Amino acid sequence: MIQFSQVTVNYGYVPGALKDINLQLRDGDFTLLIGPTGSGKSTLLRLIYMDILPSSGTVTVDKWSSYRISPRQINVLRRNIGVVFQDFKLIENMSVFDNVALPLVIEGYRRKYIIRLVRLLLDEVNMLQSERQQASTLSLGEKQRVAIARAMAKNPFVIIADEPTGNLDREASRNVLSLLERIHQNGTSVIMATHDYELIKDTPYRRIYMENGQILPPDRTFSPLNQRINLLADLQ
Ligand SMILES: Nc1ncnc2c1ncn2[C@@H]1O[C@H](COP(=O)(O)OP(=O)(O)OP(=O)(O)O)[C@@H](O)[C@H]1O
Ligand SMILES: [Mg+2]
Repeated sequence: MIQFSQVTVNYGYVPGALKDINLQLRDGDFTLLIGPTGSGKSTLLRLIYMDILPSSGTVTVDKWSSYRISPRQINVLRRNIGVVFQDFKLIENMSVFDNVALPLVIEGYRRKYIIRLVRLLLDEVNMLQSERQQASTLSLGEKQRVAIARAMAKNPFVIIADEPTGNLDREASRNVLSLLERIHQNGTSVIMATHDYELIKDTPYRRIYMENGQILPPDRTFSPLNQRINLLADLQ
């Protein structure tokens, strides 16, 4: 579980990137973080992988609390979280295979295991045929699929995707969303920030709307029941 309790983030002299956020994300959920530019989406996501710590309040991620986590524990936490960015952050002069293998090599896994796992992951994102290709030569959609394979390499309990389709066309965006949906169906939580309303409009996932460093009430969780209640309210 991920929990935010009265979390505020100030960047240097700029106050209020996040203001008094209270939020709970359950294991196994697919959560959409929606809001205009500058509303605090990336800041909220960075708190989860503890790239930044709150100025006040507490973020709890699984068994780790921002309140008393050591730098060494932050590294352990990050091994359990897969992060996907808008600009992919691949190593451009390395092959597709090596990009996905790198986190496993750093962890000191055995060669045989790495080869088997990387091929499996690349197959999963439909990029196995390109394993020898240099990352710089891939299309943007292909790059994001490789980045997702890399994020999955250490079998994280959650994938954090910060505008993963921000640089992609419609078809590649759909492709990336379905990949994340498949990952979610296999039991990994997914938290995705986006301002592509069109892409997510028919998805049944929890939506958290942000504006100005705050979460907009109500937390408009989609469910057929809620929708029915809203409909009834509209009729009155
Ligand atoms: N490193 C930083 N230093 C100073 N201010 C920052 C920093 N990062 C973000 N901010 C400010 O914090 C606020 C929230 O930024 P954040 O990047 O979280 O928004 P966002 O919702 O992710 O926006 P976008 O959709 O453009 O990615 C903004 O006002 C931004 O200018
Ligand atoms: Mg952002």
